Amino acid sequence: MPELRACNLASSNQMKLLPRRAPVRQHQDKAPGQLRKYCKWILWAVLTIYLFFSTSSSTTTSSLFRPPPLRAILPLKITPRAITETSHELSSPPSSASSSIRIYVYELPSSYNRDWLSNPRCGNHLFAAEVAIHEALLQFPGRVFDPNEADFFFVPVYVSCNFSTPNGFPSLHNARPLISSAVDFISTGLPFWNRSRGRDHVFVASHDFGACFHAMEHVAIAEGIPEFMEESIILQTFGVSSPHPCQRAEHVLIPPYVTPDIEEQWPAPEKAKRDIFAYFRGKMEIHPKNISGRFYSRRVRTEIWRRYAGNSKFYLQRKRLDDYRAEMARSVFCLCPLGWAPWSPRLVEAVALGCVPVIIADGIRLPFQESVRWTEISVSVAEADVGRLEEALDRVAATNLSAIQRNLWDPALRRALLFQRPMAAGDATWHALRELEGKLERSWRRHRSAEAR
Ligand SMILES: *[C@@H]1O[C@H](CO)[C@@H](O)[C@H](O)[C@H]1NC(C)=O
Ligand SMILES: *[C@@H]1O[C@H](CO)[C@@H](O)[C@H](O)[C@H]1NC(C)=O
Ligand SMILES: *[C@@H]1O[C@H](CO)[C@@H](O)[C@H](O)[C@H]1NC(C)=O
Ligand SMILES: *[C@@H]1O[C@H](CO)[C@@H](O)[C@H](O)[C@H]1NC(C)=O
Repeated sequence: MPELRACNLASSNQMKLLPRRAPVRQHQDKAPGQLRKYCKWILWAVLTIYLFFSTSSSTTTSSLFRPPPLRAILPLKITPRAITETSHELSSPPSSASSSIRIYVYELPSSYNRDWLSNPRCGNHLFAAEVAIHEALLQFPGRVFDPNEADFFFVPVYVSCNFSTPNGFPSLHNARPLISSAVDFISTGLPFWNRSRGRDHVFVASHDFGACFHAMEHVAIAEGIPEFMEESIILQTFGVSSPHPCQRAEHVLIPPYVTPDIEEQWPAPEKAKRDIFAYFRGKMEIHPKNISGRFYSRRVRTEIWRRYAGNSKFYLQRKRLDDYRAEMARSVFCLCPLGWAPWSPRLVEAVALGCVPVIIADGIRLPFQESVRWTEISVSVAEADVGRLEEALDRVAATNLSAIQRNLWDPALRRALLFQRPMAAGDATWHALRELEGKLERSWRRHRSAEAR
């Protein structure tokens, strides 16, 4: 019964995210603490291995992985054997299942968040993870209403919904003052911010360069992460593999927001008819402007246009079109070159529509690498090699394209990159919380209870 097993696997992992019903007295000293850490590692390893096999096995098996909605699995009774055994190890010493994560969500005046939703775009555009995660946490079973019980504190500020600028892009000018004022608000009324200097506080900064709040890298770097946020945990879309001022704060990488209904709007990826070989629609400047010594997309997009606009294998369009997803669903390869920032919503859209993402963004770091094996579901081309793009894609098409597609079309992947509303086991919020759980050493509450022993 693979279906039952799969669902239960998802459920039992979800269980770790549930609040503990009754407080358990803590008895560990350092050594069991380490054991606990080790066991926890094993538990996640089991999940990772499972995900790996569900990704690399046939789609029929893995399509059964699709986890049930969170609510449906709450009254959980059965757990699969492997996990039960691991959990059993985990449950001795007594409180070692303490990795279940508890989150307190601040109640802020609606001017910090809900008021912005009067513009419906606020909840749906590419930075809307700040809204989706907030909503998810309000219903999260591990949400606590007593802040003394919390491991983490979520500060719900929607900073990306001021679309006042002429191009319709969110203006990020009010991000810093708005968050700063929210921090003043929570730190005057309650003691939790001050006691840890925000170390156990969590923000979403789903913008080009995370909590640097600017779309252009050099400005983002110059302005940096606001000092008051430096100690906190940032859920962010921006990630690169080298050190970078805009990822200096503790952070969890999350995917950009793409409306979860994208899955329902199109045929299943394996059923789609793909008559476009390589696809890109978006800004490709023929003569890119040199803005403060920087060229958009480090000229990669210009180069793509220059080399391949006349090539019949490439379908390249420079005009915006709302229906571009229909074209992605018809494509074998979807180009995901950098823009100002390395990441792009196309990465998620391509996975959701079963089009192999072709990542052209040197040094990009992608979300949920423990469970999403990006190298097996995408093609990477170095920025300097963009002139050999056709060659690279031809080679993949002639060799391992079907292997990549088989991996890519695993529904568990689409689920992992989309923020379901409400939150569901295995979705993007779920994965983000799982990674947050790895930062429990920042929980002031846990340190306190450890010291008290
Ligand atoms: C929206 O952005 C504009 C331009 O940056 C600013 O003048 C305005 O005050 C912002 N609106 C709010 C409500 O913050
Ligand atoms: C936290 O610190 C700030 C600045 O140091 C102070 O103004 C505020 O009153 C403190 N909050 C509490 C609850 O003590
Ligand atoms: C781009 O502009 C900067 C100054 O803003 C200048 O130093 C640099 O030479 C320019 N680069 C090119 C290729 O024109
Ligand atoms: C597909 O082949 C390319 C070389 O052409 C290789 O770099 C890549 O890792 C392979 N991908 C998979 C998933 O096998």
